[in-house]
Amino acid sequence: MTAFHILIEQHGDEQQMQWRPTTLNEPGAGEVRLRQSAIGVNFIDTYHRSGLYPLTLPSSLGMEACGIVEAVGPEVSELKIGDRVAYAGGAVGAYTTHRIMPESKLVIVPDGIPDDLAAATLLRGMTAQYLLKQTFAVQAGQTILVHAAAGGVGQILCQWAQSLGVKVIGTVGSSKKQALAAQWCDWVLDYSSDDWVAAVRDLTQGLGVPVVYDGVGADTFLPSLDCLAPRGLMASFGNASGPVSSFNLGILAQKGSLYVTRPTLGHYTSTRAALLATAEDYFAALAAGLVKPDIGQRYALQDAAQAHRDLAARQTTGATVLMP
Ligand SMILES: NC(=O)c1ccc[n+]([C@@H]2O[C@H](COP(=O)([O-])OP(=O)(O)OC[C@H]3O[C@@H](n4cnc5c(N)ncnc54)[C@H](OP(=O)(O)O)[C@@H]3O)[C@@H](O)[C@H]2O)c1
Repeated sequence: MTAFHILIEQHGDEQQMQWRPTTLNEPGAGEVRLRQSAIGVNFIDTYHRSGLYPLTLPSSLGMEACGIVEAVGPEVSELKIGDRVAYAGGAVGAYTTHRIMPESKLVIVPDGIPDDLAAATLLRGMTAQYLLKQTFAVQAGQTILVHAAAGGVGQILCQWAQSLGVKVIGTVGSSKKQALAAQWCDWVLDYSSDDWVAAVRDLTQGLGVPVVYDGVGADTFLPSLDCLAPRGLMASFGNASGPVSSFNLGILAQKGSLYVTRPTLGHYTSTRAALLATAEDYFAALAAGLVKPDIGQRYALQDAAQAHRDLAARQTTGATVLMP
């Protein structure tokens, strides 16, 4: 059958993203074919496009989507035609109308969770899950620092942390986002203008926070170390402002015997059991209203390049979805 997808033949800017037909084979052993109904846009898609995280080219883009199983291959044991499923990982290539996927990467979307919400937030929701409960298990009564608090991961992370009894200091890059993030942060600092390191120390009575969740990277990494309490953890999970370059390890001793980790979702969902447990915990939080992620932007799949421009220009809030 013929599907349509966004294809890049070279790494580069958004102009590399072309809308093209592609031929899909029948699903092989352990695979199913999906008719995709909604596709999530993540910051990592821009790294795949630009070549910060290189791909084997030509390639489509995208890590997550929701859809209906419309054909099953041999040796498929869990899924059947008509099942509504989502994925957030595996091979790159979600920006497409139809897709062959291994059943092992798919999770059933519970009734009551709309396709667009599942597609646009499963990756970020599972990221928030492992960051808050596995990388550093937050405890009620703690105060934490979350960068880019108005963004896709930021919104879910902050809402979920608050539901666990944690106080959240969030940072944002503009006054417009400050008002938004105030809905799910106890305090919001504008890192484009505030002396946010001093403010964090003031808000924690000079003690610092036990963990910083940082998806911004280059601009925030070093100053964030000054926000940590002794033996605190810097969870550096993204590069929105650019990757963190090498640094003197001795800084960690000077600033309080600190820990640093650079986690990624794939390593927290590498087994079927871990993927299901992480996804189910996120879907349960969604169903219980502990997290209420916004889809801040919607685009037609053909217009994915505009979604990338807006994400890079810091024009987006919450999650972004492409509709095939
Ligand atoms: N390791 C993992 O497992 C994992 C999983 C998912 C996402 N991530 C990472 O988490 C981060 C957030 O992902 P997301 O998809 O939810 O994106 P997002 O937070 O919705 O967007 C990124 C935000 O970063 C902030 N930012 C700061 N400096 C920036 C710059 N120079 N250029 C662009 N944005 C800048 C912007 O917010 P302000 O305007 O408020 O500054 C922007 O809106 C990304 O770095 C992503 O790669 C990591």
